[in-house]
Order: sequence, then structure tokens, then C-alpha cells
Amino acid sequence: MTPGPRKAAAYLGALAGLSLTLAACSSGADPAAYPEDDVEIVVPFAAGGPTDTVTRMIAEPMAQELGVQIVVQNVEGAGGTVAAGQVAAEDPDGYTVLMHHIGMSTAPALYGDALAYDPVADFRTVGLVTEVPMTIIARSDFEPDTLEDFVTYVQEHESEVTMATAGEGAASDLCGRLLTSALGVEVTVVPYDGTGPAMEDLVGKQVDFMCDQTTNTTTQITEGTVKAYAVTTPERIDALPDLPTTAEAGQPDIAVSVWHGLYVPAETPDEVVEKLTAALQTALADQSVIDQMAGLGTTPVEHDRATPEAHTELLTEQIATWSDVIGTQGG
Ligand code: MLT
Repeated sequence: MTPGPRKAAAYLGALAGLSLTLAACSSGADPAAYPEDDVEIVVPFAAGGPTDTVTRMIAEPMAQELGVQIVVQNVEGAGGTVAAGQVAAEDPDGYTVLMHHIGMSTAPALYGDALAYDPVADFRTVGLVTEVPMTIIARSDFEPDTLEDFVTYVQEHESEVTMATAGEGAASDLCGRLLTSALGVEVTVVPYDGTGPAMEDLVGKQVDFMCDQTTNTTTQITEGTVKAYAVTTPERIDALPDLPTTAEAGQPDIAVSVWHGLYVPAETPDEVVEKLTAALQTALADQSVIDQMAGLGTTPVEHDRATPEAHTELLTEQIATWSDVIGTQGG
């Protein structure tokens, strides 16, 4: 005997419900007992860069709060989209967490249908972490000394000038696009797996300039191993008080800071997300994290922004904003 269409539909519906439940428990994890094993935080860029630096700052205090080890894993490629796609497909059990930045909101406009995940539908947000200013920097022997001189030089030598980025979708790529588009130039883009390795080449004078986060540039700027032109925030920052803002240096449209947040796969249970959020909030209140971030030109977000609600609100607003900006620029 074959079931009628309504019975068949009910049966299929029950199966679908069962498979969702099974997906949540596929690793055998009990959300109430979470965490019982090491937690992995996936960084979508190379080790030694700004995303890696921020992740390693919060990993230890988060691990202490959770009572397990946190292992930081770097999965580079395609401006952070390889790692995000990989985490979206992981078991939704809280043992694989993604750290990502503003690139989570620019990827839909940049990659379109080629993006293997939906930043909103395929993840749950855990909370925001920090917002990092960016700096426009160059190799130490690059000819221009000020942003005003840089603008003139790049406009006159665009075919010779090289710009390092961490790939399409990276913050350095976004800031570089805003800058070159404001100057009306096309320079040669040199993509890296992250601005950690890009910085090595900039210090080694293999590439001309880069727009990168203060968490990766403050030490080199202070030590003089790179030349700095401007910071992309409305006000100067305490860590680099002599560095003018882009507005002061005549480029008010180059205004961007790089927000970071933690994500888990979409079906992760509430209890697990709540524990990760609490651990994140504890880490961001840790004095050593506050001090390390201050030394690199940034601060932890306020307590009420290290929440899924504030994070989701920013993510959805930023997807709409960057879709307009990138769409307008023909990105
Ligand atoms: C990194 O960690 O390498 C950066 O966040 C890259 C970037 O987005 O520019």
C-alpha cells in the first residue's frame, strides 16, 4: 500500500525535522555539557596578520572562561571566503568558530552567486569583537612623504605603482579600492593570503603601498620600517598621535574601520551560543586584552555590542551598505 500525498508529505516533513535534529547532534555533542573538548577558532587569513593577532589576544581568556583549550587555525584563501564556507559546513556544535571581519558583509556584493554560503542564513552571530582603524602606508623608501604628495605621485605613475592586498574581500582590498577609486587611478594589485605576509614584503620593499589595520601596522609605523601617510578614522588615534587623519590630509572619503565578529554554523543550539558569547564578553573585559588592543590602536567593543543581537544588526546593515557602494563602483 502506498501512502496518500498528505501522508507522504507529513512523513517527509517528519524526516526533515529529524534530520535537522540529527545535524545538531551529529558530533554526539550535548549542548548542556558544552564544551567538553577543545574549541577551534578559524581565522580566514594568514598567521601573523591583524585578524590572527586579534583572535590570539582573545583566545586565552575565552579558553579560561570555557575551561577548555582554544586552538587557532588559519585557513587562507579568496579574501576570507574559503574559511567562511568551510565553517558554514561544519557540525553546528560550537567546536568550530569563525572569526571574520567586515569582509563577511562585502563578500555577497563582490562574489555574487559564486559565494558558497549566505553570511546571514548559514551562520549564527556570537558577538562583535573590535573595530580597527586602518592606515595608508608605504615602503620606507617610497618617494612621497605626505598623503598629498602620495596622491600626486600615484596619479602620475599609476602604471608603475603596486598595492598589496589580502585578496578580493579583504579589508586591505576594500580600503585600497576606496582609495584608488577616490584618486581615479588603476594600480597593479599584488594579492597575498593575508596582510601578515604582505607586510613582510612591504618592509622588504618588494611592493609600494598598502592600506591595512593598525593591529598590523602600529609597530612598523612606530619603528619606521614603513612610511605612514594617514589613519582612516575621523579623529587621530592615541597609538599614533602624529599621524593625520585622511580628512586632515585632504581625502575625507577614505573613511573605514574594520569590525570583527565571531560566528558559528546556523543550527548551533542557543545554549552553546550563549556560552561562547559569555566567554567573548569575559575576554573583552580582560585588562591584558584591553592593554594589548590599545597598544595597537584599537579597543574591545562595549559589553552590549559583544552580543548576537548587535552583531546581526551590524552585519545586515553592512551587507546593504557595501552592496550599494560596491555595486555603484562596479565591483
Ligand atoms: C588579515 O588578517 O590578514 C587581514 O585581515 C587581511 C585584510 O583583510 O586585509
